Amino acid sequence: MIDLSVQIGKLKLKNPVLLASGTVGYGNEIAELTDLSKLGGIVTKSLSLKPRIGNPPQRVCETSSGMLNAIGLANVGVEVFIKEKIPFLKKLNTTIICNIAASSVEEYVECTRILTREEAIAAFEINVSCPNVKDGGLEFGNNLQAVAQITNKVKAVTDKPVIIKLSPNVSRISEFAKAVKDNGGDAVSAINTLVGTAFDIWTKKPKIKNVTGGLSGPAIKPVALAKVLEISRNVEIPIIGIGGIMDWKDAAEFMIAGASAVQIGTVNFINPKAGEEIIDGLIEYCKKMSIGRIADLTASYEI
Ligand SMILES: Cc1cc2nc3c(=O)[nH]c(=O)nc-3n(C[C@H](O)[C@H](O)[C@H](O)COP(=O)(O)O)c2cc1C
Repeated sequence: MIDLSVQIGKLKLKNPVLLASGTVGYGNEIAELTDLSKLGGIVTKSLSLKPRIGNPPQRVCETSSGMLNAIGLANVGVEVFIKEKIPFLKKLNTTIICNIAASSVEEYVECTRILTREEAIAAFEINVSCPNVKDGGLEFGNNLQAVAQITNKVKAVTDKPVIIKLSPNVSRISEFAKAVKDNGGDAVSAINTLVGTAFDIWTKKPKIKNVTGGLSGPAIKPVALAKVLEISRNVEIPIIGIGGIMDWKDAAEFMIAGASAVQIGTVNFINPKAGEEIIDGLIEYCKKMSIGRIADLTASYEI
């Protein structure tokens, strides 16, 4: 038997495969298509204090080896989430990580303070890196002091593990991971989407209304791997690897590069069973490689 469990700071997961924020709603959008209880966990769509309608359409488009999205953090807000989404999430036999986005430090703190009372939530993922909103978003993700302050203040209002989701749109991501560690953060997730754009050559107009959006999918995998490796080589903090993971081989590669767990996003739109398949593939891989504990794969690179 292979031990698939992994430890992300204080958070223990039954296996290292999580569904990424914004790609499965509050679990409800994928529940009928796959067995969520097999997964290590689900990360909810980013929640803000008040509901947000997000950006006007067109909000997504396909690009070479990936997709662009500028959803603009559309979400139901904390109150509706507690009333209408938590009862469903409670029934799922998997770990629930609640992702929070905000326009001010105070809003991050207030959301975390309110949601920390909810037993169904095992940990928080703080999104300081959304490229598609006017206020907050990348302004925080690009600012070392802001990331340090958010980590520090959010940690002060919760006993649950706090994971900070970092932006790749910076020159030294490891400096941000260090700021998270120095301020008591339990882990980092890397990466959120890269800023990108696309034009229709006949109308000469941007393909998405917001002009720029977040690039995800296989196109960003090598960038994401390099960011995970950079953090792994410079900062001792658990890393959740994200970016273009389509199958178990990609997941194994991220773990070798330094990730303790992985999240999958874009692939959910193509194959909702990808999470389950990745877990099965990782088990077979561990058997072939005589790996007894999948956690031993983390940062096993030889450079
Ligand atoms: C349609 C869409 C919506 C997303 N919404 C969020 C979000 O609300 N919060 C967040 O932290 N990340 C969000 N993301 C980013 C993903 O969680 C993930 O970091 C990114 O897509 C890279 O992973 P992938 O290449 O596997 O998709 C979104 C991504 C997509 C494609």
